[in-house]
Amino acid sequence: MGKSIVILGSQWGDEGKGKMVDLLTEKAQAVVRFQGGHNAGHTLVINGQKTVLHLIPSGILHEGVQCFIGQGVVVSPKALLEEINSLAKQGVEAAQRLKISPAATLVLPYHVALDKANEARKGRQAIGTTGRGIGPAYEDKVARRSLRVCDLIDLNTFKERCEHILQYHNAVLKHYYEAEPVTLNMVLEDIMPARETLLSMMSDIRVDLQTLRQNGANIIFEGAQGALLDIDHGTYPYVTSSNTTAGGVATGSGFGPLYLDEVVGVTKAYCTRVGGGPFPTELLDEVGQFLGKKGQEFGATTGRARRCGWFDVCVMRRSVEVNSLSSLAITKLDVLDELDELKICTHYKLKGDKISHPPVTHEEYSACEPVYEVMPGWKSSTLGITQEADLPENARRYLARLEALVGVPIALISTGAEREHTIELKKILNEGANTKVA
Ligand code: IMP
Repeated sequence: MGKSIVILGSQWGDEGKGKMVDLLTEKAQAVVRFQGGHNAGHTLVINGQKTVLHLIPSGILHEGVQCFIGQGVVVSPKALLEEINSLAKQGVEAAQRLKISPAATLVLPYHVALDKANEARKGRQAIGTTGRGIGPAYEDKVARRSLRVCDLIDLNTFKERCEHILQYHNAVLKHYYEAEPVTLNMVLEDIMPARETLLSMMSDIRVDLQTLRQNGANIIFEGAQGALLDIDHGTYPYVTSSNTTAGGVATGSGFGPLYLDEVVGVTKAYCTRVGGGPFPTELLDEVGQFLGKKGQEFGATTGRARRCGWFDVCVMRRSVEVNSLSSLAITKLDVLDELDELKICTHYKLKGDKISHPPVTHEEYSACEPVYEVMPGWKSSTLGITQEADLPENARRYLARLEALVGVPIALISTGAEREHTIELKKILNEGANTKVA
């Protein structure tokens, strides 16, 4: 029997999910994206070669692995085609191994225009979105006016519906945002080069995934962003517009929750966040700058500098409970190598009370002060270590303390960017049946 596992970010994104998915894909037959869009940026380093994927599941770099994009994902035809073409230059024939749900919402130029205009208008209150149109595309989906992948079949109807949608959005762009309108031609320029490819990849992935499961395949569900960016459970309104947590797997791919065997929470050995919003353990001093530099904390999608801070157990408590995390994958341990001491935030103080979980409003969250435990650093290199026994004593103590506070066993520890730079404490996947869907 194969296993179906979820790998997702348990903080604010950028935890290093791409590497973990890529690593576990060695034993998997299928990898599935179930939410988000090309706002994600999964960086993979294989044999020294760096690949950044935004929309296509990280499993694509493994020959023979089938990749799926579920209806919970918002798909930019232009971004998808660019990614397929850039993979082709590396000799990876993505289109042949990728299937897309016909029900996935399209991200079109008017979504990008609305995202940018909205952020510009908000000024200092801006969310700090990636500017890729993700939020407006999800708004259209919920408002039941989306154009979806299946709408690319009949171009005449597509154009007709698009004209109607443009009337609505252009009124908002022109009169509310005082921004440039978007034309039907601009939309067609976006979709036409990608249309045939998209149509050739269309498939009812709910059926495909069931077939794979029944045939004994190992299936990985690859999360994008992180738990605290979830539209329902994150630091609203400073969140993305999808369900980044484990519940999103069922809705975003049509794979029922009881079919899942394991939920792996990927977490940095410290914490980062891009964009606006509360971040109690943020370090605005030279330690924060050090983490940013050593950890190369720049957004894979936007190039923005990430905010850096200490490991936050309150964030992890929320993440463990909301996702039902069954194991942890700790990344970027080596970034901490040179520090004299390390802090772990165990609780927050809010108006004199000690609290264990993030509060609901961003005003209250911004008023939280971190309560820290302090541990000594290890002051030696952990880069590339592959055996737990080879870790310095203080690094092992630090990890054991994180594990005890979070209450979930650590299965994997990443000690560098390469696939091989990993300590495996628990086997998550055994060989799955080598099966494929047509
Ligand atoms: P959006 O997803 O572009 O609407 O951006 C909403 C918020 O999510 C912003 O704070 C972004 O910085 C953040 N965000 C979106 N995608 C990622 C990601 O892949 N990693 C980290 N943060 C992200």
